[in-house]
Amino acid sequence: MESFIRGLPKAELHVHIEGTLEPELMFELAAKNATTIGYASVGELHAAYEFSCLQDFLDIYHQGAAVLQDANDFYRLTTAYLKNAAADNVRHAEIFFDAQTHTNRGVAMGAVVEGLSAACANAEEQLGITTGLIMCFLRHLSQDEAMTTLDQALPYREQLLGVGLASSEVGHPPSKFVEVFARARAKGLHTVAHAGEEGPPEYVREALDLLHVERIDHGIRAMEDSELVARLRYEAVPLTVCPLSNVKLGAVASIAEHPLPAMFEQGLMVTINSDDPAYFGGYVGDNYLAVAGDTGFDKEALTEMARNSVEASFASADRKSRIHAEIDGYAASEAGRR
Ligand code: HPA
Ligand code: ZN
Repeated sequence: MESFIRGLPKAELHVHIEGTLEPELMFELAAKNATTIGYASVGELHAAYEFSCLQDFLDIYHQGAAVLQDANDFYRLTTAYLKNAAADNVRHAEIFFDAQTHTNRGVAMGAVVEGLSAACANAEEQLGITTGLIMCFLRHLSQDEAMTTLDQALPYREQLLGVGLASSEVGHPPSKFVEVFARARAKGLHTVAHAGEEGPPEYVREALDLLHVERIDHGIRAMEDSELVARLRYEAVPLTVCPLSNVKLGAVASIAEHPLPAMFEQGLMVTINSDDPAYFGGYVGDNYLAVAGDTGFDKEALTEMARNSVEASFASADRKSRIHAEIDGYAASEAGRR
């Protein structure tokens, strides 16, 4: 099963680049930039990765991200992620970044976007992986701040695929960001939002009705509302589910109890993703592997979710059909082997 999963062509649609910062690179950049992390060693830092909720994690995640200072730091971070993604045969990756986490520390928007973009361009050439960048607004901050951030990002419009909504969910509903999402849509940017990770099903509805997002990130709590489930199925709204993340942050007790199988069986357009792999114990392939081991998904189901990931991406029709063809070829060779 493991080699099947690693080789399965797939897209990753929910990964925060700051969440791919491995402790070794964090310490190296801290030393280079003369910044402090607050932990003495890689081991001590790893030991701190015990979270009881999203906020617990976000506190450490923002602290870690503070080692990123210049374009080359963002380049190295993104290059390391794309290398790991390629090892899981990720053929297309849509990467989230938190601009405000950096601009609020005095790092220029240009340094962030140019470092990320250069790494993406290089990986496209070297690894044949296609990519896109999605800037997430921090929902614990105000809509005015999000609007300022969008203004700062517009000179780099050509390097951006879309905008998203991340950070502390409960108490910060999608309705807080109606105008900034409308403005982003008017600029032709794609839109997605985290909803229903810790927040109620109502936040998923708001994201669809008020922000008009094209995908929901997480969405697991939608399962508490059967009418919403029916709508998500009818409208084929893609959900970017992150199983290891949900267990690490206590949204779900264990992989065995994760709602993903129920979501899949009820016909929702679910995809499997890593969220913050350096913090949650695994990259996208590890997430496929965890659900295969503990929920009983077979190869056909995993292949269908890989197809969903391609279909739910914002890749061009041509790129999508090429990756679908790779999946077809892979599935056929697997069938021949049996
Ligand atoms: N939820 C919200 N914000 C985030 C997450 C998440 O899982 N990861 C990084 N920022
Ligand atoms: Zn996320």
